[in-house]
Amino acid sequence: MYGNDFPGEDPPGGLLGEVEAAEAALRAAAARDRGAAEPGGDLAAYFAEVVDADQKIEPRDWMPEAYRRTLIRQIAQHAHSEIIGMQPEGNWISRAPSLKRKAILLAKVQDEAGHGLYLYAAAETLGVSRDELVDLLLSGRQKYSSIFNYPTLSWADVGAIGWLVDGAAIVNQVPLCRCSYGPYARAMIRVCKEESFHQRQGYEILHTLAHGTPAQKAMAQDSVDRWWYPSLAMFGPPDGDSTHSAQSMAWKIKRFSNDELRQRFVDMCVGQAEALGLRIPDPELRWNDERQAYDFTEPDYDELMRVIKGNGPCNRQRMEHRRRAHSEGAWVREAAAAYAAKRAVKEKEKVAA
Ligand SMILES: [Fe+2]
Ligand SMILES: [Fe+2]
Repeated sequence: MYGNDFPGEDPPGGLLGEVEAAEAALRAAAARDRGAAEPGGDLAAYFAEVVDADQKIEPRDWMPEAYRRTLIRQIAQHAHSEIIGMQPEGNWISRAPSLKRKAILLAKVQDEAGHGLYLYAAAETLGVSRDELVDLLLSGRQKYSSIFNYPTLSWADVGAIGWLVDGAAIVNQVPLCRCSYGPYARAMIRVCKEESFHQRQGYEILHTLAHGTPAQKAMAQDSVDRWWYPSLAMFGPPDGDSTHSAQSMAWKIKRFSNDELRQRFVDMCVGQAEALGLRIPDPELRWNDERQAYDFTEPDYDELMRVIKGNGPCNRQRMEHRRRAHSEGAWVREAAAAYAAKRAVKEKEKVAA
């Protein structure tokens, strides 16, 4: 039994079923595509109509400047998170307990690099360059998900990250498959399919440890104890304090509030934890019949703000590592640029000949 394969699950078909439904909706919307706005037509009205009809805004279309800026910020921060997120797990590639585990973890970390690339490419369709975005990250003017500022102390943390962190990421990202901006929605469909695999691999690591020796089970429990609340904090501040939500909902970038998604994640995890034989570290966790959902203890939002402001356990280490990797990779970028320039000259000569 794996992460989201539970009978009677909500929603039916699980999160992957929802991704498939979103993909079908995307294809249907593409078939109804009305093309670009009429020249000289009312561009703002066209934008509003496309969004209302659940069609996609494409790079060719006019869009409000604030919509473009919101998307650039969100997609870039998402891309940065994928790239920085490679570090805590990369830490365990050389120490994975078997060749098979090593190969799986390598593939998983490599997927995260791929997610970063799709997302930087999606952001570039909004008229910003990848160089500019990387610069914003390295100079600390754009953020990445605070979860990656926590350390991975044991092998079980690789399992807890897959189950909880990738699990929270999917709950957040499945609704983004229906985002109004076409390139972002399409990138999210592919990303979510891969995240679902990541969640299962983490779940399977924890399942193996939880059914191993008492020391292995204790190691798995310790990981879940440390990663539970930071994972709940991944959904962001509570709705009352969330600054960007209302406008993003109106533009159909965001479909559910932070608190709705957090609740959904908790409800999904309870049965999975039971199947693992591991305890969620929350004495207040109990089913609420009236709400048809679990009551739970909120994460420490003051801690979240401290980590976002740069004072988590690993913020400095993560940024130093990224800056070093970026400068050590300068020769690769130079070589790629030189190759591209040579090819462009050759292409020109071919056309001229
Ligand atoms: Fe990812
Ligand atoms: Fe992932």
